[in-house]
Amino acid sequence: MSDNSAPATQVSTPEIFDPFFLESLHKHWTDSHFALGVEIIDAQHLWLVALVFRMESVLLTKHSEQRAGKLVAYARELVRFLRSHLELEDRVMKAAEIPRHEEIALDHADFLSRLTAALNLDKAGNIQNGESFVNLIKLWLDKHIKRDDPQWKVYLSKHHFNPVDFVGAVVTDITAEHESIHMQLYRQLLVAQEVIPGIRKAILDDLFQLWKRFEVRTNIPLIDMQHLWLFKMVVEMESMLHISFAERRTHLERVLADLLDYVDIHFNCEEWLMAKLGYPEEKAHHRLHEDFRRTVQKLKQEYDAGNHHSLSSLVTLLRQWLLTHIVIEDSKYARVFAHDTQATINISRLLIREKEISIPRDQTLIYTYITARMRASGA
Ligand SMILES: [Fe+2]
Ligand SMILES: [Fe+2]
Ligand SMILES: [Fe+2]
Repeated sequence: MSDNSAPATQVSTPEIFDPFFLESLHKHWTDSHFALGVEIIDAQHLWLVALVFRMESVLLTKHSEQRAGKLVAYARELVRFLRSHLELEDRVMKAAEIPRHEEIALDHADFLSRLTAALNLDKAGNIQNGESFVNLIKLWLDKHIKRDDPQWKVYLSKHHFNPVDFVGAVVTDITAEHESIHMQLYRQLLVAQEVIPGIRKAILDDLFQLWKRFEVRTNIPLIDMQHLWLFKMVVEMESMLHISFAERRTHLERVLADLLDYVDIHFNCEEWLMAKLGYPEEKAHHRLHEDFRRTVQKLKQEYDAGNHHSLSSLVTLLRQWLLTHIVIEDSKYARVFAHDTQATINISRLLIREKEISIPRDQTLIYTYITARMRASGA
C-alpha cells in the first residue's frame, strides 16, 4: 500500500523536543559520529535520526491505538522527509558532476521504494511491522550518513568547492530551509547544545544532582515545579559567582530580582495550600517564611548599599535555606497531602485558578526532564 493512501497524521513536535529525549538523541548523534560539517545536511540528517529514534521508543511502549497512530505518523514523515533529503543530495551531486551520480540517484530511488513498501499499512491504516521498518531505515541511514555522504563532501572539497556554500546554492528555498523545524532542532541541540532552550546543560545536571541527593520531592507537581524553578535560579546564580563581577553584574542582579519575586509567589502558594488544607502547623510555617523574607531583604539592602560581598552570602543562604526548609518543613505538609492524591490535584487546580498562577513552559520542561531522568536513574 502506498504511503499516501491514508490521511496524514502529524508528527508530535513536543515529543521530539522533549528534553529528556533530546538528551539521549544528542548522545546518540555524538557517539555515532554523524556530524558531516555541512549545516543544512546535518540538520536534515538529525531530523531523520530523531524520527527513527522516536519510532524506536514508541515501539517499546504497550500496544494501543495511540501507539499505532504515532508509528504511522513517524514512518510517513520519515518517508516524506527522506525523499526530499535525497532529492537535494541528488541535485548537489548532479550539479557538482560527481562521477556515478546517476547511479547513486537510482540507488536512492530504489531505497525509497523499498522503504515505502516496508511501510506496509493494513486495512485500518496501521503499520504492520514497525520493527522491520525501523531496522531497514536505521541500518541504511547509518551507512548513508557515515559512508556515502562524506564521499560527495570530499569530492566537492577536492574540486575547490566549499561544501557548505555549494549545498546552500542548490537548496531551492533557503529561507524556508532556515526557518524549518529541523533547522530549529539542529540549532538548539547541536549549536546551542541545549535540551531546554536557554538553559545550559550544566544547570540541569546540577539540578538533577540536587534532586537526587536530597529528599526535596513533595510529590505535589505544582510545588515541585516551583521548587525546581527556585533552585534553577539559585544554581544559575552560583554558576555566575566565579565570573568577574563587572561581567556578571547585570545578569546576576536580574536573576536575583526574579528569584526574590518568585520566592514570594511560591510562599503565597504554599500558605494558601496550607490554609485550605487546615494544616495544623500553618502558623509556624508562615513565620519561617516571614523570617526568611526579612533576612533576604536585609542582605539585599546591604548589597544595594554597595556591599557586593553580601551577594555570595545571599546566594549561599538562598541555597541552604531553601534546601533545609523544603527537606524539613515543606515535607511535613507534603506528607499530609500524600494521603489523598486526587484531593491534591483538585486543590492544586483550584490554586492555579484562584491565585492566577501561571506555569511557564520552561518550568514544565524542567519538571518533565528531571522526573524522566530520575525515573531512568532508578531513583
Ligand atoms: Fe544525506
Ligand atoms: Fe516551598
Ligand atoms: Fe515553605
